[in-house]
Amino acid sequence: MCGIICYSGSKKAIPILINGLKKLEYRGYDSAGLSVIEDKTPITIKSEGKVSNLEAKTSNITTNASYGIAHTRWATHGRPSEINAHPQLDNKNKICVVHNGIIENYKDLKYELINKGYIFISDTDTEVIAHLIDMYFTDDLEIAVLKTVERLSGTFGLAVIHADIDHKIIIVKRGSPIVIGVGDNEFFAASDPIAISDYTNKIIVLNDDEMAVLNSKEYFIKNLRNEVLKKNIKIVDKDSYSNDKKGFESFMLKEIFEQPISIKNAFRGRIIESEGVSKLGGLEPVLERLKSIKKLIIVSCGTSFYSGKLGRYIFESLTELDVEVEIASEFRYRKFTLDKDVAVLALSQSGETADTIAALKEAKRKGALLLGMVNEVGTTITQLTDAGVYNHAGSEIGVASTKIYTSQLVLLTLMGLLIGRYHGLSFIEGKSIIDGIKKLPEQIKEILSNAKNIQKVSKKYAHFRDFLYIGRLYNYPTAMEAALKLKEISYIHAEGYPAGEMKHGPISLIDENFPTVAIAPDDEVMDKMLSNIEQIKARNGKILSVTNSSAKKVIEISDDIFIVPKTIPVLQPILNIIPLQLFAYYIAKEKGRNIDKPRNLAKSVTVE
Ligand code: AGP
Ligand code: GLU
Repeated sequence: MCGIICYSGSKKAIPILINGLKKLEYRGYDSAGLSVIEDKTPITIKSEGKVSNLEAKTSNITTNASYGIAHTRWATHGRPSEINAHPQLDNKNKICVVHNGIIENYKDLKYELINKGYIFISDTDTEVIAHLIDMYFTDDLEIAVLKTVERLSGTFGLAVIHADIDHKIIIVKRGSPIVIGVGDNEFFAASDPIAISDYTNKIIVLNDDEMAVLNSKEYFIKNLRNEVLKKNIKIVDKDSYSNDKKGFESFMLKEIFEQPISIKNAFRGRIIESEGVSKLGGLEPVLERLKSIKKLIIVSCGTSFYSGKLGRYIFESLTELDVEVEIASEFRYRKFTLDKDVAVLALSQSGETADTIAALKEAKRKGALLLGMVNEVGTTITQLTDAGVYNHAGSEIGVASTKIYTSQLVLLTLMGLLIGRYHGLSFIEGKSIIDGIKKLPEQIKEILSNAKNIQKVSKKYAHFRDFLYIGRLYNYPTAMEAALKLKEISYIHAEGYPAGEMKHGPISLIDENFPTVAIAPDDEVMDKMLSNIEQIKARNGKILSVTNSSAKKVIEISDDIFIVPKTIPVLQPILNIIPLQLFAYYIAKEKGRNIDKPRNLAKSVTVE
């Protein structure tokens, strides 16, 4: 998890490493560190907290060292501290290692190494790697790393340097993303191309069980049998990096306001109006099989799970598929059978979520068709699946997902439309969905133009300790996603519930200090929502509703309202979530939270 950046060339390494770490900051971390080599001696600097703390520590170091490795850590083994920060070194202070991921068998290895006389300094799982490499090292670092990797189970992205081996950096990938950057007589490695985007746009994506060997003159990509592989260099479009707040006070706010564009990008070139159908190029290779599937299982985590839950309603309304949605971390351990009539669809912004990857691997073993919906191009899930669609929403940097959620909902609708038109869905129904989708960007702009008012209302609610979010049908997942947004960035307790469940328990929580956010648009279950709202009002509960201007009764009974434009029920949740993203945002702002990087969270969860 978290971030690695490495450099081997002729420029000063430290500024390049620090610059790269800063660009990886969005991934969430608790400490950072780097090692560069000068005169066969490692200079290792580490700090807790922000990369700026590390930068401050490097400012009085004068070195021309021109190769090194750096890391931002999201602690899994051992608390965030300087000692536990990476790089981890061997006892002779020659071998420096940075590692993303988890070494699952580290305890056994540690025991073995202690028995051989190695002294452990940190509480990390990573430290075993440095000692193992030392144990296997005679004169060839590649061989020592390969022998070490053979002993490791778990997930890792690794970078290793040895103080006596000039400019050589060895990288190995299993589970944690790593790309190699190719420059002119300089080479890089990074967890995300964004970290090296100032220096090169030529990258090589490493697959699992591949090793890269870099120095300042050349690079090799090898498999774990030490055989050289031929891999293509990809050119990354510089405009696809959006590591710039573009005048917004945070990435999250920028991303909320980007939704008219990200939604347009989700459907651009993907609808055939004259046939009332969608066209998803990424699914074409499996179209024939897709036509015959009977069951779809959606697997994902967090926000991507909530869009999956909504996906179920979408597919049930547009197709005849039997649909299940499951949290990936549960699915991967369940006992189940699948066959070729089943497709498993993974939703993931990052394409690197460990639980979702494991769920897909399990489904592959059992013979299902594997589909993906991913934002980050070329990531593990895109490689693992038989076919898929990209969000094309641009990087999402804020840890709390916003624009990817709505983009996923649009794509799920397009996927439902594609399959539905092979089932019972008529041209007219298909056409009305397309008309609805095309209007979304303008409707979202209308909601966003009301941000000031949303901020005013949010301030009134910022002092509450708990919130309940309720909705029915399509808006039950909306309630869950809106509650997740609030808890992630404001640290306020919030629960999303199906409104009909209120009376089975949660209503006992309600009093004047426990407000409810009701997602109650003018739809076929509005009257049911009204009854739930009445029940809450009767217990002095405060009500903030998200509704349409035509829902007079909801407007009358609510203490506060966010009005959103009306669309067809299948698309209404895309509009309903927008004011609630802003609501969470403004409450978190009022409370002075670190909105883009909330405590304890990471953007891409590549550990189990
Ligand atoms: C969303 O706000 C969260 N930070 C988190 O729940 C996220 O959606 C989840 O970790 C899944 O990530 P993915 O879409 O990259 O797979
Ligand atoms: N498991 C390692 C540690 O806790 C690496 C964590 C990470 O990926 O940042 O130090």
